Amino acid sequence: MYTSRIAGMGKYVPENIVTNDDLSKVMDTNDAWIQERTGIKERRHIKKGDGNTTAVMGVKAAEIALERAQVSKDDIDLIVFATLSPDYYFPGCGVQVQDLMGIHTCPALDVRNQCSGFIYAISVADQFIKTGMYKNVLVIGSENHSGGLDFTTRGRGVSVIFGDGAGAAVLTRSDTDGHGVLSTHLHSEGKHALELSLKGPSTLHWVPEIIEENPQEDIPYYPYMNGQFVFKNAVVRFSEVIMEGLKTNNLQVEDIDMLIPHQANLRISQFIQKKFQLADDKVYNNIQRYGNTTAASIPIALCEAWEEGKIKEGDTVVLAAFGSGFTWGSAIMKW
Ligand code: ACO
Repeated sequence: MYTSRIAGMGKYVPENIVTNDDLSKVMDTNDAWIQERTGIKERRHIKKGDGNTTAVMGVKAAEIALERAQVSKDDIDLIVFATLSPDYYFPGCGVQVQDLMGIHTCPALDVRNQCSGFIYAISVADQFIKTGMYKNVLVIGSENHSGGLDFTTRGRGVSVIFGDGAGAAVLTRSDTDGHGVLSTHLHSEGKHALELSLKGPSTLHWVPEIIEENPQEDIPYYPYMNGQFVFKNAVVRFSEVIMEGLKTNNLQVEDIDMLIPHQANLRISQFIQKKFQLADDKVYNNIQRYGNTTAASIPIALCEAWEEGKIKEGDTVVLAAFGSGFTWGSAIMKW
């Protein structure tokens, strides 16, 4: 059986920086509240007219990843695109990437698993490579949150947290045992689906009906998040799924060289770090600068940690995520 490894990574974030003070000019919030509750200092937002969309940002990250991997676009066998904020209701962003990059008629699929989307996407890619069906898979996580958030005081509990951006990885077949993706672990618990959700527009909640039913309050075409419930579940599931991955590979917490948690909230990352007693240089966080970019947060953080020389050949790297669904997962890699 083959294994898969990350041959190259890329990231892209829009130039437009939105600070907490900027948000406090349009809604009743402040820098102290946001930093204390989430760790976020600033995030990037697509600016009208800058040409960015979820698919376009994905392409920008993917082009860097392909160049670093030294893989030609002609050699891409599959595109897996993770997002909760696709440009269109349908089709997905995977086919847009294929078109924008001029990639041949390879398969393209979208993964709709929110904050866990990139882990699910890596797992899908890994299975195709392990079976020998494909050699090179382009995996992308990209989000345009700013286009769909409520930037009035009514939406402040959610809109201050999220940012825009994209990350990409080229997963390639490797013949070296014990390197690359060692295992992936996926879970979901649909009974909590609506605790962190966006109800419409959908076939159940179509826009004209939403407006008619909700003329003023509680508009279900903005995301809803039961913040404290999400927090409580996240810290438990993060811990469980990291331990599951370590156990599967006969590894101990002390073997972790780098943990890249989904950048949900700095307090969640710090909780996990404390629980596992990991040193500061073994956990990578950049939510302070980018906010929570959902499916893009892990590839952006992983790419940045690698660019900064914080991940070296032979390192044990653990990716872990929890999010809407609820869904959660981990990937254990030998770099
Ligand atoms: N600025 C100022 N005040 C605010 C803001 C804001 N942006 N948002 C909410 N408040 C107010 C509320 O209205 C409330 O006021 P009240 O007491 O007068 O009613 C008060 O602050 C407390 O609100 P809570 O929602 O209870 O605040 P909490 O301490 O729970 O913090 C937060 C909210 C940060 C979302 C927290 O619940 C949390 O960290 N949850 C984890 C969820 C998470 O991180 N989600 C990320 C996305 S999901 C994912 O990626 C897994």
